[in-house]
Amino acid sequence: MSRIAYVNGQYLPHNHATVHIEDRGYQFADGVYEVIPIVMGKMIDENGHLDRLWRSMEELQIDEPMKRRPLQLVMQEVLRQNGVDTGLIYIQVTRGVSRRDHPFPAGAVSSLVMTAKKTSLEKSEKKAEEGVAVITVPDIRWKRRDIKSVSLLPNVLAKQEAVEKGAYEAFQVDEDGLVTEGSSTNAWIVNKEGVLITRQTDHNILAGITRAALLELLEKKGIKFELRAFSEDELHDAREVFLTSSSSYVQPVIKVNDKMIGNGQPGSISIELRGVFKEYMEN
Ligand code: PDD
Repeated sequence: MSRIAYVNGQYLPHNHATVHIEDRGYQFADGVYEVIPIVMGKMIDENGHLDRLWRSMEELQIDEPMKRRPLQLVMQEVLRQNGVDTGLIYIQVTRGVSRRDHPFPAGAVSSLVMTAKKTSLEKSEKKAEEGVAVITVPDIRWKRRDIKSVSLLPNVLAKQEAVEKGAYEAFQVDEDGLVTEGSSTNAWIVNKEGVLITRQTDHNILAGITRAALLELLEKKGIKFELRAFSEDELHDAREVFLTSSSSYVQPVIKVNDKMIGNGQPGSISIELRGVFKEYMEN
């Protein structure tokens, strides 16, 4: 089945799907996006993702390209036309096309693009069983990381450094030595005392939908956690480390920079929470 992309009202062969050279997303990274997981035909946390998409648009005063209900119908159609049963749907909204000039253009019409791709649960499972390495990098991003903007250059540079060092992800560290989040994931630790910790949400990190869903599951199960920033030293000394995102779900981390975490195997709490989240997605 060949891939199909949705671009401003049209379903096009993926290879021929294009936007205008003066789209503000292309010229100014003036746009927002979402990545939503689909697992065995079920969209995971669709409402949370769409709430966040609308919030990102509102924060940047980008007009909605269409109402929420028709957008959901386009999502369904993109999944259907791409035959995606397990995978990811990508939604991007930009401020639209206009002659290049920094201020918001009067009368520009927002652009909407959607693509979908298949992913493999087996591959994800294997990675989770093995665990992954992360590196730490300075967080050089702007101060509104809560907005899911397509302006991702620092994230791209961080991930590239991780890949070049043989790692899966880069955890970013702020000027105070506190971990903010991964380049495309949220960061979690179980500290030396056995306390589960992830950073509180504010302008410093993206409010991950996977993170929020897992926190809700923890509450339901009566598993305690702390919402606070943890330092790079705490990360290195942690008993367990893991990360969450729409594409990684819950992924155990076994190495930070050159240091093994615990005994170099995925930790028991990380494995348990991966299972809890998997069950949540599958049911
Ligand atoms: N990334 N932090 C950042 C900076 C992210 O880009 C993401 C998501 C997350 C996790 O959020 P969620 O659980 O809602 O996926 C945290 C997506 C997957 C991406 O850019 O591909």
